Amino acid sequence: MGTSAREPGRSAMSFDSNAFRFALSQFATGVAVITARGPEDQAIGLTMSSFNSVSLDPPLVLFSVDRRAMSLPAMLAARGYAVNILSRAQEGLSNAFAKSLSDKFADVEHTVGHAEAPLLHGALAHFECEPYAHHDGGDHVIFIGRVLRFSTAGEGEPLVFFRGKYHGVSSGDQRAPEWPLPIPS
Ligand SMILES: Cc1cc2nc3c(=O)[nH]c(=O)nc-3n(C[C@H](O)[C@H](O)[C@H](O)COP(=O)(O)O)c2cc1C
Repeated sequence: MGTSAREPGRSAMSFDSNAFRFALSQFATGVAVITARGPEDQAIGLTMSSFNSVSLDPPLVLFSVDRRAMSLPAMLAARGYAVNILSRAQEGLSNAFAKSLSDKFADVEHTVGHAEAPLLHGALAHFECEPYAHHDGGDHVIFIGRVLRFSTAGEGEPLVFFRGKYHGVSSGDQRAPEWPLPIPS
């Protein structure tokens, strides 16, 4: 699975890493919690802003996981995972699932989906995936998932992550791009 063009972590950064992170943080994203079931049947969950769509046919999505994440070995071994797109009301879940070595699923309402991955209640959307590829992404591993099933809440505001802080969106200020996106509103 996947390709490896370079060994991770070998190239010295030629610019300031804080400045680089700050520049990257100008790109506003949503927030997702990636969930899965590990080899010992344990529930896994990680907060991710690196979620993105990749392909419509086949239906592919991606996210990238820090090589230092405690859950990485279990994520690599999982038979599938779910992407839970958080709503503005789920900031607490975003914080909880970003904490290593904690009981992340205590009091978190969920059902289970493909490969027993937890589906978090109240999410704006769920994407249930099977692993499609893992790629070297430097100090991260890029996961590409093939979407088997999805569901959409159809209401609720997204949780937005921008310049290192959570935001909501002002739904009064919206305009369609002048590019024909085939997304029904
Ligand atoms: C808003 C937000 C976005 C995050 N995005 C990512 C990400 O895209 N990739 C990543 O590896 N970690 C990301 N993190 C950090 C991870 O959530 C955190 O390191 C991880 O959940 C630790 O899990 P562990 O128990 O596997 O160590 C993010 C954290 C927050 C609060």
